[in-house]
Amino acid sequence: MNNNKVYIETYGCQMNLADTEIVLGILQNNGYRVTKHLEDADVILVNTCSIRENAEQRIYGRLGNFKTIKDQKPDLVVGVLGCMAERLRSDLVDKKKIVDVVVGPDEYRRLPELIDVAFNGDKGIGIKLSKSETYDDIIPHREDGLQAWISVMRGCDKFCTFCVVPFTRGRERSRTLTSVVDEVKQLSVRGFKEVTLLGQNVNSYLDNEARNNKDFADLLASCAQVDRTVRIRFTTSHPQDLSDKLLHTIAEYPNICNYIHLPVQSGSNRILELMNRTYTIEHYLQLIEKARKIIPGVSFSTDIISGFPTETFEDHIMTLDVMREVRYDGAYMFKYSPREGTKAYKMDDDIPEETKTKRLQEIINLQQQISFELNQDLIGKEVTVLVEGFSRKSDKFLSGRSDTNKVVILPANDKIKIGDYVRVKINKATSATLFGEFKGFVNLLEESLSLTG
Ligand code: SAH
Ligand code: SF4
Ligand code: F3S
Repeated sequence: MNNNKVYIETYGCQMNLADTEIVLGILQNNGYRVTKHLEDADVILVNTCSIRENAEQRIYGRLGNFKTIKDQKPDLVVGVLGCMAERLRSDLVDKKKIVDVVVGPDEYRRLPELIDVAFNGDKGIGIKLSKSETYDDIIPHREDGLQAWISVMRGCDKFCTFCVVPFTRGRERSRTLTSVVDEVKQLSVRGFKEVTLLGQNVNSYLDNEARNNKDFADLLASCAQVDRTVRIRFTTSHPQDLSDKLLHTIAEYPNICNYIHLPVQSGSNRILELMNRTYTIEHYLQLIEKARKIIPGVSFSTDIISGFPTETFEDHIMTLDVMREVRYDGAYMFKYSPREGTKAYKMDDDIPEETKTKRLQEIINLQQQISFELNQDLIGKEVTVLVEGFSRKSDKFLSGRSDTNKVVILPANDKIKIGDYVRVKINKATSATLFGEFKGFVNLLEESLSLTG
């Protein structure tokens, strides 16, 4: 046991946020204490992201700051975790001399040992990827709250040609259904009200323990049954694995949110093929149509990349067309960034920076207009909101999210508590936020009994 204090910063996707909780769980089991103050730390860790060049640049900048601290405190151990650890490996130790520890996503169990190596003056490096590590038995370090993430599968086997994830996270593997359900139970007992199941392709989840073949729809249903007042969300879904069974399961349980993040990436079949996305736009649009039939009121968000190699003006227009056709509630929109080691890296990055920027701006503008219009349509309607806290701007207002993941602001009053489900009538909307008035409490339990009973 030791008495060291660890400070950690997390970049990148929600999987990284969930991994940070696993890392802190492991370190706490080994006697570490967690600090939120950089200056108190004996160990500084950065959980990193490699998805685009600018994500890595930001982290390099941060490592520069840590070097200044380390110059004054030579015993300090600085470690890089996550996707950059896997991508850059010993570069981080050889070139960035301040880094003492480099540990990839599948070697976090060895972190206490590797930090000890660094305390003894050597470099602690663990970057092997695993076919089986899921951290199934690790209890993540979670502060009390309403919302929790649970990683249910790790890795990715899809190999989209632009993406580093299959290289930084390794092959797909899933946790057992029972271990995930147990975790949801514990969270429910602690008063959590929303659980987000995570995976790079969460819907290709498959628990094959004892050959029981439990797929993602089975997992969602089992999680939803734990506590009907706990909302279940999930991300990210790949269009290839969005089965009918999964859509029916979402429709069946009122506490599974009617919200699907379904990245399209591009509206052009030629580009989709170059990206190795394994679907055509026609297939994608059929899927959306089917989901809307099976799950009334379902909303969608997406990811879009602009300026993939060889993207023509016509390809770009097709992306805008798909956005108009689907009318996404939200989108994460990026300029293509070449990543070494990927297939697309060998293609010529031939779209000039200013064209990428211009196309991206058009995509962002269109999405903003669509989000605004969709939110205007909600004026006069009632939505169910989980109250998450006071609004950032004033404690006279409460803030929460709808089933479809929209931020809703309503006036605070003595009756409404954080963690309550309330019915809110919308009377104003921007592209990002809905404003409304309290109309009553919602009992999710009764709602689900009346639907299933
Ligand atoms: N597993 C998820 C997404 C993971 S990365 C999925 O398949 O949907 C999140 C998003 O980052 C991707 O959907 C993609 O839009 C974007 N992205 C990934 N690699 C990129 C790159 N090299 N350049 C620009 N955007 C990228
Ligand atoms: Fe990357 Fe594609 Fe895997 Fe998503 S599905 S993580 S974009 S390779
Ligand atoms: Fe980034 Fe790795 Fe997540 S590259 S997006 S932290 S899987």
